[in-house]
Order: sequence, then C-alpha cells, then structure tokens
Amino acid sequence: MEKYLHPTCSNIGKRLGVALLVGLFNLVGSMATIDAADLTIQAGQPGKSISPDLLGVFFEDLNYAADGGLYAELVQNRSFEYSPTEQPDWHPLKFWELQKRGGGDGSITVANMRPIHKNNPLYALLTIRTPGEGVGIANSGFDGIALKAGENYEASFRAYQAYMGIMWGRGDNSKPMPVTLRLETKTGEVLAETSMQIKGRVWTRFSAQFVPPRTVNDARLVLLAHETGAICLDMISLFPQDTFMGRPNGLRKDLAQAIADIKPKFVRFPGGCLVHGQGIHQYYDWKDSIGPVEQRRSGRNLWGYDQTRGFGYFEFFQFCEDIGAKPLPVVTAGVCCQHGGSSPNRGQEGLPLDEMPAYIQDVLDLIEWANGPATSEWGAKRAAAGHPEPFGLKYIGVGNEDAITPVFKERFKMIYEAIGKEHPEIVVIGTVGPFAGGEDYDNGWAFARELKLEMVDEHYYVNPQWFWDNLNRYDTYDRNAAKVYVGEFAAHDQGRRNTLRSALAEAAELTSFERNGDVVQFASYAPLLARRGHTQWVPDMIYFDNTNVYRTANYYVQQLFGQNSGDRYIETRLDAPDATKLTASTVLDSVSGDLIVKIVNGDDEPVEIDIRLAGLASDATMKATRTILTGPDADAVNEDGEAPVVKPEESTESVKPAFSYTAPANSLTVYRINK
Ligand code: AHR
Repeated sequence: MEKYLHPTCSNIGKRLGVALLVGLFNLVGSMATIDAADLTIQAGQPGKSISPDLLGVFFEDLNYAADGGLYAELVQNRSFEYSPTEQPDWHPLKFWELQKRGGGDGSITVANMRPIHKNNPLYALLTIRTPGEGVGIANSGFDGIALKAGENYEASFRAYQAYMGIMWGRGDNSKPMPVTLRLETKTGEVLAETSMQIKGRVWTRFSAQFVPPRTVNDARLVLLAHETGAICLDMISLFPQDTFMGRPNGLRKDLAQAIADIKPKFVRFPGGCLVHGQGIHQYYDWKDSIGPVEQRRSGRNLWGYDQTRGFGYFEFFQFCEDIGAKPLPVVTAGVCCQHGGSSPNRGQEGLPLDEMPAYIQDVLDLIEWANGPATSEWGAKRAAAGHPEPFGLKYIGVGNEDAITPVFKERFKMIYEAIGKEHPEIVVIGTVGPFAGGEDYDNGWAFARELKLEMVDEHYYVNPQWFWDNLNRYDTYDRNAAKVYVGEFAAHDQGRRNTLRSALAEAAELTSFERNGDVVQFASYAPLLARRGHTQWVPDMIYFDNTNVYRTANYYVQQLFGQNSGDRYIETRLDAPDATKLTASTVLDSVSGDLIVKIVNGDDEPVEIDIRLAGLASDATMKATRTILTGPDADAVNEDGEAPVVKPEESTESVKPAFSYTAPANSLTVYRINK
C-alpha cells in the first residue's frame, strides 16, 4: 500500500524542537512562512484506479429546499392542502387572502366533495354574493413573488362552477363565471392581467401567459370573480417559463445551475430523514411523487412544513440526466425514524410484516419505473411523463441512519434479497447509523459483512479538527469489504457557521477520500440548500432567497473537487514536519490526461512547498491552471449580499517537473497540469 505521511504523524521529536523554535521566534516577531515542505508525486506512474464518481450532491427537502426553493413554483399552498400537522397555525387557506374589491362581498371556504383526485382532496370554494369590482383570492408565494421584467410566466388554475346566483333567486345557471387573473404589486398595482370565463361542472384547467413590465420582488397572484355565484378552485399556480433547461414543471434556474456547476457525479434523493419519516406510515412514498402534479399527494414532511412533491421522482431523475449525474434514490428500510412518535431515541417501529410484500413490490416497481421498457407497467408511466428511454438506475439506498435493531435487520434483509433476486444489476447501499463510530456503526458494518453488501452509507457531522485528526480513517479499511458512500458529511465549526476553517477541513477530508478512492466510492456534503428565514439546519452548502444564491466557502470546496475529479490516484508523498494542518492528493483525469494536485493548508501561516513530479522529463514544460481558494482568515465567512471574501481565484502558468509553490495560509490550491 502506498506510504502516506500525514504531518500530524511525522517525527514528533523534530516537531517539538520546531515548536520550541517557533515559540522563541514568536517572542521577537511573527513568523512569515512555514519552512519548506516536500511534495513528491509519482507522475510517471499509472497510479491506482479510483471511483470516477467520487463527488456528488445530496438533495433533501429540508430548509425549503424543494417547495420555495429548487422547485420553481411561485405560489405557496397551491392545492389548499396545508394543515396543522405541519405547523400549528397552518390550515388549507394558509397563505391565501380573501379579496373584496370595490364594494364586493363574498367568502372563501374549504371543500372536499368533488376533488380533482383522491390524492388531492381539498380545494377552495369561492362564493360571490356581491361582485363589486371583484371577489377572489390572492397569494404572495414564499415571502412575496419575485418577477423579472420582460420574462414569461405561466399562471394556471383549475376550476368549475359550483352554482350561479340562482341560489339566491338571481341569475341563471347556464351563465359562465367571468374572472380576471392578475399579477399585482402588494399595493394593488396591476402588472399583468387577463380575463376568462369559467363554465360547467367539470374541473377544467385555465392558463395565461404574463410578461411583467417591470421587476418586482414582492408581487402576488390574484384571481377575482365578477358575478354572483360560486366557483371551486384548485392547483392555482405560477411558473417562470425560463426554468432550468426549459423544463415544464421545472426547477429554478439559478439554483439548479449552482448545483450543476459542482459537476456532481450523482444526486442522492429525497433524504435523509425525510425518507423514513416520523411514524411508520409517514415514509416518502415515491409513487405519490410521479404523474400529473394535480394527482400527487402533498403533505407534511419530516422537517415541519408541506411538500407538494411537485419536484418528485420524475423531476429528480430528469435533473440528474440534465446535469450528467447518476440518480441515487433512497427508500426506507421498512422502519420509521428512531426519533419518531415523539420518542427521543429508539422509537423505531417496523412496518407490520404482512405489509412488507406490498412495500417491497413498491421498491421493485421503482426499479421498473426507472429502467423498465416503455411497454412494462411502470416503464409506461415514465414514458407517459415524456421519457420513454430508461433512466439507467444503478444504485439504490435502503435506509437512512437507522438504528441497527432486529426490527430493522429483518426488514432490510427482505428488501435486499428481493432486489437481489429480481434485479441483480442494482447495487443496494446499506446504512451504518448516524455517526462515524459507535453502536450502530459497528452493528451496521457487521450486518453489511454478514449480507456481503456491496456498499454502505456513512454519515458524520463533526468539528473541523476531527477531519484533520482522521485523515487516515480509510487507509486501513478492508479493500475486500463493502465500499463506502459518505452520504452526509460536514464540518461543524463554532456557531455552526460556514467558516473557511470548516471548508478547508472538508477539503482535507476530500483529499483523503481521493487517496482512498478505491474504497470511498461516493461522497456528498449535507445539507445542500437552505432558504433564508426558513432554515431548520445549519450549516448548509448554498443559501438562497427569492432572487439570490449565496455560495459558501464550503460550496467552493465542493465545486473545486467536483470540477477537478479524476479516475486514478497518483501516489503523493508529503513531508512537512513544521505544518500542523497540511495535506495533499493527486488524481489523474484519464480523459483529458490532466494531473490534478490539491493542496490544503489549514494553518494560519503560508507554507513553502517544493513540488516534484517524479518520472517526468526534467526539462518538460507544462501548462497549468492554478486555482486558489482562501480568505482573510480561518473565521472568514461569505456574508449574504456582500462580495464573497472566500472565492476561487484562477490563473494560468507554466510549470516544470520541479517547482516551488507557497500555499497561502488557510487555503485550498488546485493545480491542473496538462502533462
Ligand atoms: O442532512 C440533515 C439530516 O442529517 C439528514 O436528514 C439526516 O440523515 C441526518 O441526520
């Protein structure tokens, strides 16, 4: 095995001596640069094969990551399904306001007699007693609707006539109900408007295109009715036409692009804890998330708000395809969260065993939906959604951070064996608890060995120093045992802030993943997205509001590793007796032939490094791109609305097989060398 010298393991006596000298030096003045370190890269050797898919992303609908986030829908509670199970003061009319304009009078209530679909049971009944200048409803979206001047928006709703004024001895039941649909500012200025006629007793979809003349960040969508009578309304929606890749029912372009820019090799979805839910029948049922959006089941997600599942399995697979990432769905292992049922710890419950066959069939159906021919039962549903070709699903996660109990093991085994029997081509990824060690980790690994699993999912949220102290974690993992997916990791610094210190600790960890890329197959930072003002978990990789995307230092680390991945690890030896936080890794990208060297300096001083690309002709001159991510100090944080203080700076240069480089204090440097 390759000899790797992490500086924390190097000659202790020498380091103590150096520490004394440094102490003396500090008495007379501050030290400018740590003495030279040697970095020797066996550039002439082929190195070892590593996972070409090491870095991906993990999307969980947490922190309003989906509705109010990546999913481009601008109306909140579009199908009147909000409920107090989500938040105590939520109800089906939450985020809707009754409008009585110019002497109008009427009311709005919730109905369930004639729903659009059984999965979408509630809708609004708008009654107009005195039309005035209009009686209707308004929605301000998620903290206001942000509209861009000159862009196209599609507003739509479903409606039918409940009755006309004949109920009160006026009117005529054959008359349609005239309505106007508008975009307004919050003070009532009309930005765009159209008129429609609602007629008949059958749910009908109405839509209109709007182009706002100016940019407004706190607009609302308003529907007004103009005759005495009543109409039923549901699925009131507003979408920008300019979604990511122009997909209908699509994704917010700037956020999707920020994710795409990481060049993730896979996307894990939909959780996280969201997958198993709190309460045994509260798990995320993928079948509720496909098909026409008005037929999807919305409801409480584990993080305490509503998920429409508008961004469902189809949109997830499509997004993966659009960004060239492998889909990595996770399904429950037939147990609920161990913290469910108001239990603080082992409140895990299993699906009744007589329900397991149907549940297992759902998992098998998911595989058929993703990969089966368009002529198969579930493949036909994928094709009907516009994707006749299979999606090419290869991996499926079963379980998330579950307590490894007999209840869990029995159900996991049933699912695992059924997948193995019906779909031996699919790799099942097991789970080994929520921490980097401990009871569930040990039991999860023992169980993985017993079943001969191909891969398990490890999670750790730890302080930055933990990463530096554990860079050798995977060096001793059994190369013949299950591969590792580090499905969730993040450095939690003081105050759980997105400091440069935390980002560099993650970068250091990623160098160790690269070095162990024959064991660590996948890795994904968590969580990915967080909406400002609606965040249940910090730190996160990307923050956003309605109009801005805020990239953290941690984001840039992921981006630099994602954009500079390789498929072979090249032996890299670092001798740095004076540094306490210095590490490096080298990968080869066989497609471009580029050698990619990453150097992480987590110390507060720069370090001078003599770099030697062994095995290359000494007079060779090579083009290199050097990207440095650093900031004013380790506490540096990119603040919303301010120019980021931590962001990558790229330059090009020529390098020889032996050259010196001074890695700035608190920095990640990526050399991409075209050899
Ligand atoms: O990433 C946030 C949460 O952390 C995930 O849902 C869960 O798996 C973990 O505990």
